[in-house]
Amino acid sequence: MIDLHAHVLYGIDDGPRTVHDTLGVIRQAASDGTRSIVAVAHANDGHFNVIPEQYERAFEIACREIASAGLNVQLIPAMEVRLGPQLAEGYRQGRFLAMGGTGYFCVELPPNDFPAYTLDTLFELSLEGLRILLIHPERNRGLRRRPELMERLLNMEILGVASGGSLLGQFGPEVQAATWQLIEGGLIQAVATDGHSIAKRPLRLSAYEPVLSRRYGDPVAESMLQGVPSHVLAGRPVELIPHPRIGWRRFFGAR
Ligand SMILES: [Fe+2]
Repeated sequence: MIDLHAHVLYGIDDGPRTVHDTLGVIRQAASDGTRSIVAVAHANDGHFNVIPEQYERAFEIACREIASAGLNVQLIPAMEVRLGPQLAEGYRQGRFLAMGGTGYFCVELPPNDFPAYTLDTLFELSLEGLRILLIHPERNRGLRRRPELMERLLNMEILGVASGGSLLGQFGPEVQAATWQLIEGGLIQAVATDGHSIAKRPLRLSAYEPVLSRRYGDPVAESMLQGVPSHVLAGRPVELIPHPRIGWRRFFGAR
């Protein structure tokens, strides 16, 4: 499996605190069958402001530790960038890192609103040749209040990645309901752990497979946990295919 979003680098954001914690979460992912992890860190969320040099140093250390522990897991670098009006400018200046060599860029909306400049900023980023991965859009209150905004995002070919915990109700019933709504509307095309620690926010992607399978069938679960993520890592656009049960657009996932 491929985990498109997890905090596994230590000492730079609210993920692991020590090298021991880093190896712990990566071992957890590996024993769950995850072979690739997009190792995000908060670039500018108001609490953590990780700069590229700091990120790259933490990334290299983690890769070295994985190699010396003999773990069969590959890390892919990426920053989790909080939406702000100057995002494209920051990207042009080298302040924010896209997902290593894929052309995908992880954007997180602020939790409480959907700022007026959101669509313009995302469009500006797309002009830089980036494809947007919207991280846990189900946790954005503005989008939950105005579901019609989803269509605007779909028209811009933006892909959403849900946090696995949202599926299980870990962020409350409102977020859980929004997750189903956004999956069925076609915006959320993949699920990641958004893991931070072994116990509280684990890197156990397989936990989400039964709940997706039960609701939408095995092919959709497979697409959300493996098919779409593998397209993203390969830097390919996600091919939309018709699905009889999901989406008023009747499109879903990667072949
Ligand atoms: Fe995250």
